[in-house]
Amino acid sequence: MSELLEASRAMKKFYIETFGCQMNAHDSEKVVGTLVRQGYTQVDSPEQADLIFYNTCSIRDKAEQKVFSRLQQFKRDAGKGKVFAVLGCVAQQEGERIFERAPHVSLVAGSASYTKLPEMLVQLEAGNRRVTGLSLDTTETFDTPFTRRDNPHRAYITIIEGCDKSCAYCVVPFTRGPERSRTSESVMREARTLAEAGYSEVQLLGQNVNSYRDPSPAGWDFSQLLAGTGKIDGIRRVRFTTSHPRDFVKNIVDAIDACPALCNHVHLPVQSGSDAVLSRMQRLYSRDQYIRRIEWIKNSKRDIAITTDIIVGFPGESEADFNQTLRLAEEVEYDSMFIFKYSKRPNTSALQYEDHIPEEEKTRRLMVLQERQRTIQIRRNASYIGRTEEVLVEGYNLATDQWIGRTSQNKTLNFSDSTLPAPSNDNTLVGQYSDVLITRAGPNSLAGERSSPEAASLAVS
Ligand code: 5AD
Ligand code: SF4
Repeated sequence: MSELLEASRAMKKFYIETFGCQMNAHDSEKVVGTLVRQGYTQVDSPEQADLIFYNTCSIRDKAEQKVFSRLQQFKRDAGKGKVFAVLGCVAQQEGERIFERAPHVSLVAGSASYTKLPEMLVQLEAGNRRVTGLSLDTTETFDTPFTRRDNPHRAYITIIEGCDKSCAYCVVPFTRGPERSRTSESVMREARTLAEAGYSEVQLLGQNVNSYRDPSPAGWDFSQLLAGTGKIDGIRRVRFTTSHPRDFVKNIVDAIDACPALCNHVHLPVQSGSDAVLSRMQRLYSRDQYIRRIEWIKNSKRDIAITTDIIVGFPGESEADFNQTLRLAEEVEYDSMFIFKYSKRPNTSALQYEDHIPEEEKTRRLMVLQERQRTIQIRRNASYIGRTEEVLVEGYNLATDQWIGRTSQNKTLNFSDSTLPAPSNDNTLVGQYSDVLITRAGPNSLAGERSSPEAASLAVS
């Protein structure tokens, strides 16, 4: 690269805003790393930037609308020489239509094209105002050693990209393309490097981590990858998301049982408790098959928290179907639940259904389920009172004078410690592990006291 070009890029400031899931958050960390490597500088506001990136989500209509409202908001700035780029799922879904809807956008690229980002940036630099990266025809994953991670203690690692399922409501196979797994060697190398750099928690990411299949001769499956990462020196916690019940095998629970570093948490999205709805959703499992997987988890030697995603108001969902979902929530006693109202998505097969549920009815079902789940969480969390749990300390809340920790079950546990002075740079517990006695519980979090004061002096030394 010529010195002149390098110098002109060093002056280029970019801003990035990310919407959507953890995959998107981590993609942005990789995009930022790639940009910085190319000589760009990240800034904290769109006003300061020459290049503005939106890494977008299209899982529900509302998420998709967000990016168009952002683009509208800053439209005037295009005239002042700012360049706009749309990345991610809306970019892939809408493609060149984005140029029509928002003519001030110059780059539109889906996640399957991020490996080509450096070339696309060169085209932008050369003044090309219609740069695209929209092919899904790829066997590559976006691996880079230059990732700029937002958190110094917990790190995401993508193990598989794309999705080969065809859930009737879901846009992801169209926005993220076919499944591509990384080699186990490359995942393990990244995890070791992270451990050496001081990260103690890794989160293995994929749209469906359970269908991970090592493309190298080692041929590891997901449970072997879990066991492998869990054994790395310095890695104290391994999490993973998201699981698909169809591909969730008992070996995964066996791996958790065998390896203390694997966290006590499984997120297993069920979407509905009704067989009729599951079948129309093309989820490829029945309620009974799902319950069997829950039993494996509950029969574990470990105390594994179970969380899920539910869609209410899928086309044709009757009152009886919805009641099945309510009953399933009671039966499983989820530790937490994300509830969504069904949202029509482009290209998806559910568009063929005509028996749509009115918006008010979806809202009613959402509220009924939320209320039911709240009661379950109060009960579940109360059962933790009197127990001591280890937390990774994530922060300090000045207003409540409490530390914020996260348990292995992924529950927030706020705690106080009378032996410690207010935090400063040299006595912070953030990033450390601490045992906390749980004394109170609410629907969404736990509270307690640091249980071993002697440990405090160790932790701050
Ligand atoms: N409408 C509502 N919720 C959806 N999800 C995925 N697609 C849709 C849709 N069209 C939910 C599912 C999934 C979570 C990430 O988002 O519950 O597990
Ligand atoms: Fe949103 Fe799904 Fe894309 Fe994640 S993969 S950003 S949830 S549409």
